[in-house]
Amino acid sequence: MERLVCVAIGYLFGLFQTAYIYGKLHGIDIRNYGSGNAGTTNTLRVLGTKAGLIVLAGDILKCILAIAAVRLLFAGGVHEDMYYLLAMYAALGAILGHDYPFYLGFKGGKGIAATAGLILAIHPAFIPMGVILFFGTFLLTHYVSLGSLLVYAGFLIEMVIMGQMDLFSMPVGHRTEMYVIAAFLTAMAYWKHRENIKRLLSGTERKTYLFKKNKE
Ligand code: G3P
Repeated sequence: MERLVCVAIGYLFGLFQTAYIYGKLHGIDIRNYGSGNAGTTNTLRVLGTKAGLIVLAGDILKCILAIAAVRLLFAGGVHEDMYYLLAMYAALGAILGHDYPFYLGFKGGKGIAATAGLILAIHPAFIPMGVILFFGTFLLTHYVSLGSLLVYAGFLIEMVIMGQMDLFSMPVGHRTEMYVIAAFLTAMAYWKHRENIKRLLSGTERKTYLFKKNKE
């Protein structure tokens, strides 16, 4: 039951579509421009770096807030080792809400900034991996999508390694649930990036630059 509540709370937070709202405030539906994605990269591409950074902050924050909300809600009510698991369920909900917002015809973003929120909030051990893989890839290639996909693969692998090293001090069953959620989120991210993957393979993926004009 707690798990369902966490997914539902996360989904509600995820519904806050920062890119869509920011776009609307500037007179456009971001989903009709650039890659059509309601996310940080496309906002940066279409509306500029400042807009991209605002959307990034909003989407990271909503996942952190979803995790904080379930931790507060269940504080004292569940065993300590459950906090990681409930945080994963809250993030799952937030990313589902971000990627598939019912009120926008289920057409949202790809969940990467929200996943950055999960990485920042779940355990500090995941932060160096995320920063190195993402910024390393981005600075070398300027492909945000490739950085995002590598971070997801790294997150899943690290989740299993850390779990097996007992980082979360939880029973095997709960640990396995963490792996399953991480694997599901990874599969969903790869599915959402299927067009990006095709473009990466054919050498036609859009490059993204922070300080020069990006092509739509
Ligand atoms: O966070 C989404 C990013 O990985 C790709 O975005 O707009 O290039 O499809 P986009």
